[in-house]
Amino acid sequence: MIFVTGGAGYIGSHTCVELLNAGHEVTVFDNFCNSQREALARVARITGKSVTVIEGDIRDGVALRDALAQCQPQAVIHFAGLKAVGESVEQPLRYYDNNVHGTLTLLQAMAHAGIKTLVFSSSATVYGDPQYLPLTEDHPLSATNPYGRSKLVIEDMLRDLYRSDPTWRMGILRYFNPVGAHASGLIGEDPQGIPNNLLPFVAQVAVGRRPYLNVWGNDYDTPDGTGVRDYIHVVDLALGHLKALERLQKQPECRAINLGTGVGYSVLDMVQAFEKASGKPVPYQVASRRAGDIASCYADPLLAQALLGWRAERDLAAMCSDAWRWQNGNPKGYASD
Ligand code: NAD
Ligand code: WQD
Repeated sequence: MIFVTGGAGYIGSHTCVELLNAGHEVTVFDNFCNSQREALARVARITGKSVTVIEGDIRDGVALRDALAQCQPQAVIHFAGLKAVGESVEQPLRYYDNNVHGTLTLLQAMAHAGIKTLVFSSSATVYGDPQYLPLTEDHPLSATNPYGRSKLVIEDMLRDLYRSDPTWRMGILRYFNPVGAHASGLIGEDPQGIPNNLLPFVAQVAVGRRPYLNVWGNDYDTPDGTGVRDYIHVVDLALGHLKALERLQKQPECRAINLGTGVGYSVLDMVQAFEKASGKPVPYQVASRRAGDIASCYADPLLAQALLGWRAERDLAAMCSDAWRWQNGNPKGYASD
């Protein structure tokens, strides 16, 4: 049994599918602050297997203790968190409370239950403005906003905990830019309000929900002047979690591992690929740079290959066509039903 916090969310729901497909039982613990129950009904539809759902908040230690005592999971995959960078600048205390206090409470409940295997969702944002590319795991860490700092504090908390008790088994996965959707088109990213991230915005332009894309700057030091990122298919990312669990079964450790493809694409590359996948135009206009953005960011994915035997298999065309199948079949996300 794997206990998945935030399992109803974008990456969590895709990971639940792969866990169930691999024969694991799954309990999701989620407060649904940024997700819909329908996502888990779809997970069940895709896999033909059911997910146990506990509605609860990771800041609620009593609820967590009860849930862990009831499930006796072999491991926890911890996705629950808030993730909007701009919002974190406006509401830092909410981010520290939800992400840092929430994770602290989870770790206390796990320690209490004697469950010491954890896979944590970190982010490439912990590398700050890259000093070199591709980013290796030993690149210096820094944060440029409260969201990123919350991930950094959590990473440090995990390392401190491991130092104090090296029987913990902790995988810190640093995701690059997750995109795409399950190939069935039944689950995908369902942002509330105006999407912050590029691909959901592009998809909403292609489906006609928004008139055009703002390209945040075309004067970066990149091949076409627009920002370059390491986009990774969410199903590849999900599979990385299974590999991380397999490794943790073998030995205690606390290690950070990049999950990226190692390839960078620009904003205009993404627009073009999405137009091709969808057969729809994606009109755009160039606007000024978005505060806090960096020019380029992509992973060195070799540690994941060496330690997990994992690498991303799905290419840009698959990322876009899968995202389009989800967007086109569910133009208003899970609310389309
Ligand atoms: P998401 O918002 O879709 O999923 C997060 C889930 O956690 C949601 O279901 C939400 O309801 C739940 N949640 C939030 N706070 C909670 C709380 N206090 N108690 C219980 N449940 C709570 O986000 P996602 O894109 O699936 O991201 C999952 C994790 O990966 C997050 O920790 C995020 O910071 C991290 N991450 C995401 C990205 C990305 O671009 N999507 C990149 C790097 C890292
Ligand atoms: C990608 C590129 C934008 C929207 C963020 C977080 C990071 C991680 C992933 C959680 C950039 C450009 C975007 C738009 C645009 N999340 N863009 N028009 O900024 O790399 O990373 O999400 O951990 O922490 O910071 O992703 O998708 O927002 O932007 O031109 O409407 O697309 O400038 O170059 P980013 P993104």
